[in-house]
Amino acid sequence: MHVPFLDLKAQYSALEKPIQDAVDRVLRSCAFASGPEVEAFEKMFAAYCESDHAVGVSSGTAALELLLRAHDIGPGDEVITVANTFFATAEAISLVGATPVLVDARESDALMDPARLDAAITKNTKAIIPVHLYGQPADMDAVLDVAKASDILVIEDSCQAHGARYKGSRAGSLADAGAFSFYPGKNLGAYGEGGAVTTSNADIAERVRQLRDHGSPKKYEHAVIGRNDRMDELQGAILQVKLQHLDAWNEARRSHANSYRDRLEGHVALLEEQRDRESVYHLFIARVPNRESVQGALRDAGIATGIHYPIPIHLQPAYGGTDLGRFPVSEALASDILSLPMFPELTEEQISYVAETLRAVV
Ligand SMILES: Cc1ncc(COP(=O)(O)O)c(C=O)c1O
Repeated sequence: MHVPFLDLKAQYSALEKPIQDAVDRVLRSCAFASGPEVEAFEKMFAAYCESDHAVGVSSGTAALELLLRAHDIGPGDEVITVANTFFATAEAISLVGATPVLVDARESDALMDPARLDAAITKNTKAIIPVHLYGQPADMDAVLDVAKASDILVIEDSCQAHGARYKGSRAGSLADAGAFSFYPGKNLGAYGEGGAVTTSNADIAERVRQLRDHGSPKKYEHAVIGRNDRMDELQGAILQVKLQHLDAWNEARRSHANSYRDRLEGHVALLEEQRDRESVYHLFIARVPNRESVQGALRDAGIATGIHYPIPIHLQPAYGGTDLGRFPVSEALASDILSLPMFPELTEEQISYVAETLRAVV
């Protein structure tokens, strides 16, 4: 049996007609830059995230960067995030000229450890970016408590958590603002690059709208130096179609995660899903000490896997890369995490085959 890590073609064949209609509509209009399709998607996505505003941008990285800039965060400022994340979380902080300050992840769920935040805060700290990694919201009450005590902004990196819930509320509505990525492999993926900011702060939404469009409040008038970080109309039209299916896709992912758990618990170490959260399982992670040989054996059995991520932020060459031992939990995770096949169209047969094969080789 062959089990791909991700199967975007299966999703496209189910939606071929409405997607082609949406693409055709944009091509016929010949309006390609941000316009009515993006606006319609923004309204839908804000409602979906239970947030007052959504602003479509060119990527998740742009969403993070523009949010930091909209809050005037820049050189001399520090922004706290977690060592176990995708590079772009820290990169966005560096892109605005601020300094990323890292804290370790925690063992149970591999997410930001809020117990480490107090020690990381200085007089220069302006924001905290918890990351809802793998689809599970971070421990937001604990993060927000620390932030409130020091009057610090909280931006959710929701790039892997479209539709996830924390105590009943959606990712992206839990703090001052949220940043989403629509990279094609995400739970809600564009057919190209894309991202969005969510916030219930009308001023910040307006600032992000200007910043994504050359700092322009109206055509050919430029209030500030911005960027060209607009979402394009093709992505806006395609995402409107796909958003209607997101809840069903997330439900399928959650059901697959349960099947994996039923088959693997007691045999393979797994990350915990916390009681008060609803993860949308962008990724399903197992922890295997002999990862290289396990990954090889799975590959030989026709099963594709991934590693998210093999190098924690502080060990990335771009950040010096020499601080080994500084964040032991993130380093341990980087050395033994393995992402198993996870996508809505995965079948029970495939899950059972992956789990049985993994149990035999771990
Ligand atoms: C946690 C996290 N943050 C930020 C990003 C950046 O998003 P994008 O690739 O759309 O720039 C990603 C996407 O890969 C991500 O997974």
